[in-house]
Amino acid sequence: MNTEKQKVIGVLTSGGDCPGLNAVLRGVVCAAHNLGWKVIGFYDGYEGLLEEDMHVELTLQTTEGIMQRGGTILGTTNRGHFVSKTGPGNKARISPEVMTTAKATLARLNIDALITIGGDGSLTTSQQLYESGIRVIGVPKTIDNDLEATAMTFGFDSAVACVADGLDRLHTTARAHKRVMIIEVMGRHAGWIALYGGLAGGADAILIPEIPFNFDKLADFIRRRTEAGNASTLVVVAEGATPKGGKEQYHATGAGEFRLGGVGDTVARELDHRLNRPRLVKEIRTCVLGHLQRGGDPTTLDRILGTRFGVKAVDLIAEEKFGQMVSYQNYQILSVPIASAVRRLKTVAPDSQMVETCRAVGISFGD
Ligand code: F6P
Repeated sequence: MNTEKQKVIGVLTSGGDCPGLNAVLRGVVCAAHNLGWKVIGFYDGYEGLLEEDMHVELTLQTTEGIMQRGGTILGTTNRGHFVSKTGPGNKARISPEVMTTAKATLARLNIDALITIGGDGSLTTSQQLYESGIRVIGVPKTIDNDLEATAMTFGFDSAVACVADGLDRLHTTARAHKRVMIIEVMGRHAGWIALYGGLAGGADAILIPEIPFNFDKLADFIRRRTEAGNASTLVVVAEGATPKGGKEQYHATGAGEFRLGGVGDTVARELDHRLNRPRLVKEIRTCVLGHLQRGGDPTTLDRILGTRFGVKAVDLIAEEKFGQMVSYQNYQILSVPIASAVRRLKTVAPDSQMVETCRAVGISFGD
């Protein structure tokens, strides 16, 4: 067993990447360095625990200048042997063989504790590792902002900035051509990205999973805007949004996470039926923002939140508070049990102040 001064800690990034992961890694390395600890980074998420040579020592030198960069220097995956969520609500157990191999790797490298940076699925895996005896600290990450027990995840602000920028660009072309533009954004089963990005980018309508919409009402809203003299209309659609009584749309249901997508085209088609038969009222086009929302450099807010999360994760190891996840609450970085963060998704309350604010500035939710 290592003494306090010689601790060796592991860190990995898991699930879909998001801006701010490198800020966390740098925060971990700086805080560990101050305590005289060694940091081992595992490549490609939990998969790095399964191979002999899929790790690297992280130092002040190898993490210099990474905070400002998107992606993750360690690589990541939301596929593979540790996938613990296969679809909405479904959870899978990690196989005993995989767990044994992971434990053997950690033991061979004398890892005292492991910091896992991930979203809902990855933290569900972390909880399983913790329950099997591995000393784990979780760090919440996701552009979707759908994790319970933290007011915000890093990556979300960068994704929102991307949506707002996309809308700024679509405004000018939509107005020039007097078109209706549908912009499909990420977020899985939660509407946070659509809601915040839509408000910041001046959307006219926002469709989110938490408020099932009605095609006729949305079409009426656009018709009224046209009659009132508005040249164009921008509609933000969360990938998980559904018409009342309808189902979420998926691209594929292969191994690993289900891939949501396609609702933007459906909205465009249904609006076309309602607005353009018999005569053309509005040309309707769809733009799918896709992985642009996950790429690029983190905003200042995500750099700061990521750094604070990384430092706090090291503090928690020093305090031996294993099985905990760092959490942002009331401007403070605190901690909560990982289990409490993965119990259910954090979604938008339809009667929240944020939704009411959108309605107050004339945004339609198609309901
Ligand atoms: O969870 C983050 C996220 O970007 C979701 O918003 C999106 O549905 C999903 O990941 C896309 O994952 P992939 O890159 O595997 O298609």
